[in-house]
Amino acid sequence: MEGVIDAVTRELLTRRAGFDWTVTEFVRVVDTRLPPRVFLRHCPELAGGDAPATPSGVPVHLQLLGSDPAALAANARQALRLGAASLDLNFGCPAKLVNRHDGGASMLRDPRRLHAAVSAVHAAVGDTLPVTAKIRLGFADRRLALACARAAEDGGARRLVVHGRTRNEGYRPPAHWEWIDRIRRHLTIPVVANGDIWTLEDYWKARTLSGCRDVMLGRGALADPGLAPRIRHWQATGECLPATPWAERARVLSDYAAAQRSALPGKIVVSLLKQWLNLMRGRDAEAARRFQALRRLTELDAFLGGLGAPRDARRAAPA
Ligand SMILES: Cc1cc2nc3c(=O)[nH]c(=O)nc-3n(C[C@H](O)[C@H](O)[C@H](O)COP(=O)(O)O)c2cc1C
Repeated sequence: MEGVIDAVTRELLTRRAGFDWTVTEFVRVVDTRLPPRVFLRHCPELAGGDAPATPSGVPVHLQLLGSDPAALAANARQALRLGAASLDLNFGCPAKLVNRHDGGASMLRDPRRLHAAVSAVHAAVGDTLPVTAKIRLGFADRRLALACARAAEDGGARRLVVHGRTRNEGYRPPAHWEWIDRIRRHLTIPVVANGDIWTLEDYWKARTLSGCRDVMLGRGALADPGLAPRIRHWQATGECLPATPWAERARVLSDYAAAQRSALPGKIVVSLLKQWLNLMRGRDAEAARRFQALRRLTELDAFLGGLGAPRDARRAAPA
């Protein structure tokens, strides 16, 4: 998730078992082949030499966003050279700036263009690198939902994530999981349901209504870092784990700060922590209380003190 989930977040969220794979923030492709440093910035896990993965071994898929088939193909080849093990194409981003330049969800207005983009990338990397795609249900309405999904499949996508809203629905609830089912029934590739999965109950409803075996977590994974492990535990045992305690949430936030503070100014780290805490507060009363109390603070150690995180998590990372 752009501006939200970087390599440090991926590392923290995958420490406990739960995720099968993760995706980078999108690499924006316009009309040129991007230099390796851009790919490495989005996906530092590429530097490890092996297939990119978090330290706990969860694969990291590289995501490209663009509309020009030739430029996407050139960057797909570049990603392959750099060691990417799979490529995801973003046709869901609703940002005005991105859409104005014909990227993300604006491709949902024309399934032929979506098909051209996927098949160019598929042709560029052959079968060495699985190509996957992510779509919404449409741009302004859902009329082309199935046509877009089919375009991705026919273009060579091996899996399709469907965010159950149109571009114009932004992030407003509800996500239409039953519409994902209408798409899934017509495709032969696996379809993954996405949108508004915040709890174990949401997971169950999304699976039931979409008919999908797998789901993708977005904001819910940040709002509750214990969500993916809770889902996994329930799958394995049928037991519902108790709600993630505040101490565990605070530990994740302070581990995040400890990892970021050697690279970023304290004030920036505080604003990133506020962004994360802001997502947590909608789902957790203690997070809401702490957010209210800390929202005017800009000094990192004071902020971490206010989180009440365990002491060892607050120390500065070595220079
Ligand atoms: C701030 C933000 C950034 C996002 N960036 C990306 C991105 O880079 N690539 C992507 O495929 N989806 C991105 N998304 C969309 C999410 O992956 C997800 O599809 C969407 O939020 C719906 O799922 P949710 O309701 O579980 O959050 C972003 C969403 C948000 C809120």
